[in-house]
Amino acid sequence: MEIHEALYTTRMMRRLRPDPIPLDTQARILDAAVRAPNGGNTQRWHFLAVDDPELKRALAQLFREARAVEYEKFAGGTGPMAAPAPGADPTQHAETMRRIKGSGDYLADHFEDVPLLLFFAIDDLGGANIYPAIWSALLAARAEGVGGVMTMVLRNVEDRISEMLGVPVADGWKMSAMLALGYPRGKWGVAANRRPVHEVSSRNRWGTPFGVDVPEPLWPHDYLAPDLATVGWECSPASSPRVFRTPSPHPR
Ligand SMILES: Cc1cc2nc3c(=O)[nH]c(=O)nc-3n(C[C@H](O)[C@H](O)[C@H](O)COP(=O)(O)O)c2cc1C
Repeated sequence: MEIHEALYTTRMMRRLRPDPIPLDTQARILDAAVRAPNGGNTQRWHFLAVDDPELKRALAQLFREARAVEYEKFAGGTGPMAAPAPGADPTQHAETMRRIKGSGDYLADHFEDVPLLLFFAIDDLGGANIYPAIWSALLAARAEGVGGVMTMVLRNVEDRISEMLGVPVADGWKMSAMLALGYPRGKWGVAANRRPVHEVSSRNRWGTPFGVDVPEPLWPHDYLAPDLATVGWECSPASSPRVFRTPSPHPR
């Protein structure tokens, strides 16, 4: 798979088929994840795969409980989802939240059927050390046709999760995030519901224009010959955002 296709279309998939993910596919996903950058290459991480039906049933209860706590916070105007980012459109934020809730409800209602839950643990408190590996796992899964969603909501029931999964908390280990993974029921598409680059970027000093407007996603660049599309493209700040300079003959 071309890297831009993976980067642009690795959307969060919450409607997943129950079909199991073969072990060799799981191995490829995690083998890609362990290539991710991490501070000092200490690799203080642990990946816990859960596919035991009984355990999934128990986790499903906790997942639903944790979500209820999250939506209580949301209703009370607190928690990470409550407020839109500064400058973002509140109406659009409300619509996004409505959609996330809808697909999140589906995931919660079918949690027991998710074929693979992948927990990511770290032995320090910083999430930065594990997020590259989580994103690599999602991209590698995408290349395998496996979709999923990264969830943090279980932090609302963290102690019980740690106990249920035997996390060695006394040794400093902590669950960071969980991926629910499976073959998606829906279709892959570009994650287009994003504020554009020029709205969220500056150059040299906060608030000064970045230098190019990007009103729509720059991929797929299907007007390039397929062989050229693999050698890279450049966007000229001086020209229209959908007009690119001739691709460099040297892969970047
Ligand atoms: C740190 C983090 C925590 C997240 N936690 C949850 C979660 O608990 N439940 C959930 O359904 N999605 C969760 N997500 C997924 C986001 O809702 C998703 O990335 C966002 O809505 C964009 O979705 P899209 O990529 O499909 O456009 C989380 C994502 C991140 C990066």
